[in-house]
Amino acid sequence: MTLQFHPLRETFGARVTGADLKSGIGAAEVEAIEQAIATYGVLVFGQQPIGDDEQQAFIQQFGPPVVTRLKEIASGHPHFYDISTVDDEGNPIPESSARGMYLLANLLWHTDGSQNQPPIRLTALHARVLPDNPPNTEYADMRAAWDALPASRQRELEGLQVQHSILWSREQIGMKASDFSEETLRERQPVVHPLVRLNARTGRKSLYLASHASHIIGRPLDEGRALVQELMAHATQPRFVYSHAWQRGELVMWDDSWTMHRATPYKGSQPRQMRWCGVRELEAV
Ligand SMILES: [Fe+2]
Repeated sequence: MTLQFHPLRETFGARVTGADLKSGIGAAEVEAIEQAIATYGVLVFGQQPIGDDEQQAFIQQFGPPVVTRLKEIASGHPHFYDISTVDDEGNPIPESSARGMYLLANLLWHTDGSQNQPPIRLTALHARVLPDNPPNTEYADMRAAWDALPASRQRELEGLQVQHSILWSREQIGMKASDFSEETLRERQPVVHPLVRLNARTGRKSLYLASHASHIIGRPLDEGRALVQELMAHATQPRFVYSHAWQRGELVMWDDSWTMHRATPYKGSQPRQMRWCGVRELEAV
């Protein structure tokens, strides 16, 4: 199998041809994909008619698969989430339900799993069912956002540590601590990550932000929150964003260490069902 990578933007996002994920990939393809995702951040694999077993076989070659813990969007598979607009009976999911709130939170710019330690490294999302006019998913290039900062600003930011918390991101969509079970609150303690990350494969630096990022360790809360919000606004300017228009059967894979993403709103009546899986970093970040 010879994979080819065709850039979608000059330095961000690529379409992959020559891939047959149903048949499975070997070590050479894994290495090619690792290199490509370090280079482009977002990879689009077109027309992959795969089920759970093939998606699992694909993702687990890149690291330890994320274990499903959020019951609200559980797919029944231990490593997959079901990002769907309808329930198992085909009824639209109410916005006010726990599952609806999860979909709402996906509209915020975020990095998957930054609220965990170790965080998620790679995510793969497979379009199983799409409406005629599916909503796009947007991706932000946090490496380009970093590169665009003046050197003096970069020096100020390097070495800063950021607190990430699921409670903070959910607060932004109107949830409160009392909406979470004691078990969830106990399990989902805030974690700390560096604001600037270095990609070992490329030697390039990037911002590491997300809707879960609340404030800067060692700085007054308001000041830290203002800095995080300022950098989020900087990193999500249109010049750093690739907006993906989904086709049926596509699998999109992205590097969570130097990209952010968000869903765009969808109010149509036709169902949309996406299968989500990911792999974790091997060590704390
Ligand atoms: Fe996400």
